[in-house]
Amino acid sequence: MRETDLIPKLTKPAQIEPDSGIVNVAMYGFGRPGIIAFWAGEGNLPTPGAFYRPVGESLAKGETFYTWQRGIPELREALAAYHTRHFGRNFSSENFCVTGGGMQAIQIAIQMLAADGDEVIIPTPAWPNYAGPLRMQGTVPVEVPMLFRDHRWSLDLDRLFAAAGPKTKAIVINSPSNPIGWCGTREDLIAIRDFARAKGIWIIGDEVYSRFYFGKDGAKRAPSFLDICDTEEQLVLCNTFSKNWAMTGWRQGWIQVPKALAPVAERLIQYNTSGSPVFLQRGCAAALEHGDAFVDQQVATARKNRDIVAETLRPLNRIHFQMPDGAFYFFFAIEGMKDSLTTARRIVDEANVGFAPGAAFGAAGEGFLRMCYLKDEDKLLEGLERFKNWLANHDPN
Ligand SMILES: Cc1ncc(COP(=O)(O)O)c(C=O)c1O
Repeated sequence: MRETDLIPKLTKPAQIEPDSGIVNVAMYGFGRPGIIAFWAGEGNLPTPGAFYRPVGESLAKGETFYTWQRGIPELREALAAYHTRHFGRNFSSENFCVTGGGMQAIQIAIQMLAADGDEVIIPTPAWPNYAGPLRMQGTVPVEVPMLFRDHRWSLDLDRLFAAAGPKTKAIVINSPSNPIGWCGTREDLIAIRDFARAKGIWIIGDEVYSRFYFGKDGAKRAPSFLDICDTEEQLVLCNTFSKNWAMTGWRQGWIQVPKALAPVAERLIQYNTSGSPVFLQRGCAAALEHGDAFVDQQVATARKNRDIVAETLRPLNRIHFQMPDGAFYFFFAIEGMKDSLTTARRIVDEANVGFAPGAAFGAAGEGFLRMCYLKDEDKLLEGLERFKNWLANHDPN
């Protein structure tokens, strides 16, 4: 059969779901000689030896068989201990299931909480990998655009709550946010919690960048739903080993659910992947147990690089941004830019620098570009220099 005959035989969502705009630009620029790529959400460092050595040992011991669908007990215990250490109260391993990356944690949350015809509210600009999987199963992502005014992004809570209707099953809150670096205050999170409680809807919390926090309060992590919610309420948190511990390629993450839901999440894991490899889970446990200093070092690099980018972009005419309070992205507007995907592809061609197009993050992101700045300093400086020269000599449209 020809391709043109095969495609119409697929499900409607598989036929029409577009690729993520981030991937679109990345595939366009991937492999170009000398390209400096800021499009992907990952740091510059490979996984430290202390985290990957247990993987080899596990393989050598023959830990190559099927295992617990929820994750090995040692890793789930390590997750509980990690949370106990960082959130100042006791956590139980029974609330954690190990998933194939943060992405699969999101998949499981969505499969558990929303169905065909339901609605899930997402403040945008937002990472596109919520809306895509929601649409794939017929759930409607309801965007609530955040406002960019006076160089600050703000989430209008009245507008957020007004988006909830009889079909609403959940609100997604990603704080610190990819792409804008917005961090909900404790008061924001309490208001969202109270609203969700009153309506009986779920909160899907994504706090994968929680340690990358630069708030003026000097805290070592962003405000979290775990500070203000009971673990047994309608809260599901998606998380990952990818960012903190430089493990994006490992595809390992976790989902934190009320105890009653752990068997349900486990069943969904069974039908999605049938569990994570034991040997990788050994490495994840090592990262949790021995990785605090490494995370601190990553956060210090992010903070320094954030300042470098801000100092470079601030004096430029036509560039507007909010200094991010968390995560490791700059989301900056180029005055007058109409089509961020086309411009991002042109910057690849004309400056050999790769940014993600703002439109990939929802309608509220059009007019912006996203840059991941957790990179080697020399690459960061060189990429910024190339962009500055491009901006001085080109119209964005
Ligand atoms: C906000 C957010 N959540 C979750 C993830 C998932 O990460 P992964 O699937 O690599 O574990 C990412 C990755 O970019 C992200 O930016």
